[in-house]
Parts: sequence; C-alpha cells; structure tokens
Amino acid sequence: MLTFALSKGRLAEKIFAMLKKLDICDISVDDEDRRLVITNGEYTFFLAKPSDVPTFVDNGVADIGVVGKDTILEENRDITEVLDLGFGKCRMCVCAKVSDGDSFKYKSNLRVATKYPNIAKSYFDSVHQNCTIIKLNGSVELGPIVGLSDVIVDIVESGRTLKENGLAPVLTIHDLSARLIVNNASLKTKYDDISQIIKGFETLVKEK
Ligand code: PRP
Repeated sequence: MLTFALSKGRLAEKIFAMLKKLDICDISVDDEDRRLVITNGEYTFFLAKPSDVPTFVDNGVADIGVVGKDTILEENRDITEVLDLGFGKCRMCVCAKVSDGDSFKYKSNLRVATKYPNIAKSYFDSVHQNCTIIKLNGSVELGPIVGLSDVIVDIVESGRTLKENGLAPVLTIHDLSARLIVNNASLKTKYDDISQIIKGFETLVKEK
C-alpha cells in the first residue's frame, strides 16, 4: 500500500491524468470535489494544499508527493526529489515596474514583496544584496503598484498578470515545474514499489 500526497489546484488535473494513464487511479477530481482522502484499495491519495505536500511526505504519512519546484524550494523539507514531471512549467522571477527596468540591482535595502520569503531571501543573500522581505499571501503584484515594495519575487507563467499591471520580469531565479518527491525512509523500505512508480512516471515524461 502506497500513499500519495497530491497538490490541489493548478496541478491536480494533470496529476490525475498521469495517474490514470499509469493505472494507479481512475478517479477524476474537479474544483467542486471536496474529498480530501481517496483510496482505491491499493493506493491512498491525500489532496493537500500545495505548500503542505512536502510536510506530509517529510513526516512519512505520505510515501510519494507531487508538487511544484517552487514549493520544494520554499519549504526546504527533508525529502528526495526524484523526477521532473515536465508540466506546470513556469519561472520564479524578480519583477519590477516596466519603468524601473533593472534599477533594483543598485538599490540598498531593497523592499521585496513575495509569497516565497525563503526563496527571495536566499536569492538576495546569494548576490549579497541587502533586502527587507515583505510576506504577502496573494496578488503580490500590488506591492510595487501601491508603493509597498520596490520589486516582487513571484511565479511567472504566461506573464499576463504582470503585463496587465504595468510590471515585467527582470530576472529569472529558478525554472519551475511539477516534481515527484519521495519520503526518504519509504525510498528504502518500499524500494521496489516506489521504483516501479518512478519508472512509470519516467516513461510518461519521455513519451511527451
Ligand atoms: C500566480 C502568481 C501570479 C500569477 C502568474 O498567482 O503569483 O500572480 O499566478 O501567472 P501568469 O504569469 O500566467 O499571469 P495565483 O494565480 O496563484 O494567485 P494569487 O496571486 O492570488 O496567489
């Protein structure tokens, strides 16, 4: 019996399509679905908030997880990332007002609004730029618009949200996509079962 922690929201549809192709789970889950635990005898699936998926896997209540690389970097949990699933592709960027260009690079004590304080802090530490991180929980683009921050560190997918708000990506910190993660103990104790799952996902990724 293997247990999966899966991300609700943007990634869910593609995750369930892959699980169906692999004959692991033939259940479709839409936005209206309120179930949190689904089981089909052989496997159990938790549907968790994306930022909590690494917590379930780290604590061993789930053997396997599917979650965005952004969450893996931000949560920094003791898990093993085993495969890039190749969907949910986007970028973690420093973004600023179009009129500001890359002037943020030369600012001391830069104000950075973000949903990802750890990623933002570790990036600015790595380039030795002093900054104050302002944690927001959504609509981060508001930061530079209303004068709360100089820049934002956020996910850019189509770029539409930035464009419609007079902002632009200035620098890419990380390329992101959905990843398969595994609990470190499960990787040893359930090696055969987990290897089979990883191989299945690898085949699907290569087919694309
Ligand atoms: C994410 C992200 C950007 C937007 C980027 O927000 O924080 O705001 O998507 O997508 P785009 O480049 O395709 O426009 P989300 O939709 O998760 O909502 P939130 O801002 O409320 O967190």
